[in-house]
Amino acid sequence: MADLKAPLLITGGAGYIGSHTVQYLLKQGERLVVLDNLVFGHREALPEGVVFVEGDMADAALMERVFAEHRPEAVLHFAAFAYVGESVTDPLKYYRNNLAAPLTLLETMSKFGCHRFIFSSTCATYGDPVKVPIDETHPQAPVNPYGASKWMLERVLRDCERAWGLKSVFLRYFNASGCDAEGRIGEDHDPETHLIPRVLMVAKGEIEKMTIFGTDYPTPDGTCIRDYIHVNDLASAHALALEYLRGGGETTAVNLGTGRGFSVKEIIATAEEVTGKTIPVEYGERRAGDPAELICDPAKAKAVLGWEAVNKEPRSHIESAWKWMTGPRGGRYEG
Ligand code: UFG
Repeated sequence: MADLKAPLLITGGAGYIGSHTVQYLLKQGERLVVLDNLVFGHREALPEGVVFVEGDMADAALMERVFAEHRPEAVLHFAAFAYVGESVTDPLKYYRNNLAAPLTLLETMSKFGCHRFIFSSTCATYGDPVKVPIDETHPQAPVNPYGASKWMLERVLRDCERAWGLKSVFLRYFNASGCDAEGRIGEDHDPETHLIPRVLMVAKGEIEKMTIFGTDYPTPDGTCIRDYIHVNDLASAHALALEYLRGGGETTAVNLGTGRGFSVKEIIATAEEVTGKTIPVEYGERRAGDPAELICDPAKAKAVLGWEAVNKEPRSHIESAWKWMTGPRGGRYEG
């Protein structure tokens, strides 16, 4: 019998971005072992054909067993907490989960000679931009513990490269959004704080109205501008990052976005068109820690990974998210 190729270990593979990447990689013929403690992940988000291990990357005995049994060729590391506001009020929770917990995973990788790591980093490592679009040479000055925890893990990964040859790609996501086109999997956060799903929750009647956080920003319509990157485009970037490392690529950081920005008001207007509903809004105070404008310079992603976003218009993100929210599951995995 021919040898099976070594699997990939996907931490947080039952979460929002993780599960979309799992689906993509499975279609590409990869063997996958998903590790998820299901604190935020959903067992139902995983397709047939993946090995699922319920547990935590900080559990050294479990990590030892997983690596001994599966001998993964590479790790794609999605597992993290991602509420910026909560990270400000409870920083230790973020440093423990996003920075300390992966150390056990990395120690196990070192022990088993697993030398490839693809890391779900964030544009929040840049902090308040001093220029847009933001490229990878932009100073890294995170303004909240969430961004700091991701930035610090990047530093750890660089040190691991020097010490034992770990090669990493830091994928710095801009605003992940959208869902699987077929509506089988989607975004299900509890609580949900992100703009697009919240707007659609209003359209669906689950919440009464939308609060726009700040209308006095120095932008054309006064509301914040973000670069919305479709979750399936993030998935394809992970596959290309893997090919890059398999080809002997060095540790590098890559921004993932479209290079185009849309305001909060533009997103709400597009959601009204897509859903055919009027979305009541109220104007609220600025949310602490929100930069006026975050737009990605995606040139390095194209040059180094050969990656470019396919879904450049937020309309397709909103359409796919609406399909998920109005589909059989109604936008929720449980209950
Ligand atoms: N917004 C509102 N009303 C809402 C929700 C959001 O006006 O009810 C606004 C926000 O103020 C912001 C924009 O919509 O201007 C986008 O907000 P999201 O919460 O959807 O996304 P963020 O830009 O705050 O955060 C995202 C990721 C983080 C990541 C960050 C990087 O969710 O994990 O991008 O800046 F750190």
